[in-house]
Amino acid sequence: MLVLGYESSCDETGVALVELRGDDVPRLLAHALHSQIDMHQAYGGVVPELASRDHIRRVLPLTKQVLSDAGRTLADIDVLAFTRGPGLAGALLVGAGVACALGAALGKPVLAVHHLEGHLLSPFLSADPPEFPFVALLVSGGHTQLMRVDGVGSYSLLGETIDDAAGEAFDKSAKLLGLPYPGGPALSRLAEQGDPRAFNLPRPLLKSGNLDFSFAGLKTAVMLQARKLALSSNCAVEALPEPVRADLAAATQASIVEVLVKKSLTALAETGLPRLVVAGGVGANRCLREQLNAACAKSRVRVHYPELQLCTDNGAMIAMAAAMRLQSGQQTGSAKYAFDVKPRWPLEDLNIS
Ligand code: KG4
Ligand code: ZN
Repeated sequence: MLVLGYESSCDETGVALVELRGDDVPRLLAHALHSQIDMHQAYGGVVPELASRDHIRRVLPLTKQVLSDAGRTLADIDVLAFTRGPGLAGALLVGAGVACALGAALGKPVLAVHHLEGHLLSPFLSADPPEFPFVALLVSGGHTQLMRVDGVGSYSLLGETIDDAAGEAFDKSAKLLGLPYPGGPALSRLAEQGDPRAFNLPRPLLKSGNLDFSFAGLKTAVMLQARKLALSSNCAVEALPEPVRADLAAATQASIVEVLVKKSLTALAETGLPRLVVAGGVGANRCLREQLNAACAKSRVRVHYPELQLCTDNGAMIAMAAAMRLQSGQQTGSAKYAFDVKPRWPLEDLNIS
């Protein structure tokens, strides 16, 4: 069975073809991605209307590319899948519209996928897929959650951010330091040259006794520290010497990473589960990976990541999640081609009771 999946929830247009055979882990045949980063960079963040228009421009050429890379045609497709939410409404409508139009034209069923379930299941696309059950650390631009995952469609929330997401903390701190959008990769590159101990930034909710996160105060602490430095050097924050900005970037990253690592280990200890799955854009962060690897090795816990290129948004994770839902019998595609999108959509709404 071939599943053609579409991702268009934010600033990446992703299309992918996944093959489902019996009980085997579904296999990625081809995927194509267009990132709008260059387009949004001039505005310092995603402009929703521009995002939607660009998805429209990219989605069909990317579909042609995926089919040609896989040596297949539209006639070979058995199921269409798209991201239904959460995300930007106008952007989501593009993938939803294309998938449903193709489904109607081909007479094939269509399946609506939760974006975070796509991230959660993306490590199944790697050479070393996890086994259920596991603890998942979901760290993206919009979400920071620890989940207990017992199987496809069996998700319980253990803790989440009460304000900013981890990716948002990276992005907003990076902006303060004059780094380009998206800030996460830029801040982590700058941090490589810095000393994380140069500044003592807060570790929010580290000792809260629960598995929730809070990153909004950290951004304020970074801003206050940056302003203090700028004032004493009599310059703008962006004009601070590179080594000073690198130290501040390293201290910011260290604070975010320490909280994520400690809370992940607490979640593992509390659930007694032996596996951790890390997913979402911040999962690409090198410092986070190094520290999680070290901490998990010490606690004899296996840790799984998606391939680096599949940490951030992509179509492969959407086609994969659809294939795994079909395989587990949780969902059959629908031949009703009227569609809606869910810009806000808690992952737990997917649970089968
Ligand atoms: O999962 P994703 O592509 O989109 C959402 O669903 O939000 O995550 C994007 C987020 C952005 O905040 C970006 O700055 C962050 O992931 N990110 C990183 C890195 N690569 C992407 N943050 C820290 N280090 C990175 N290497
Ligand atoms: Zn995402």
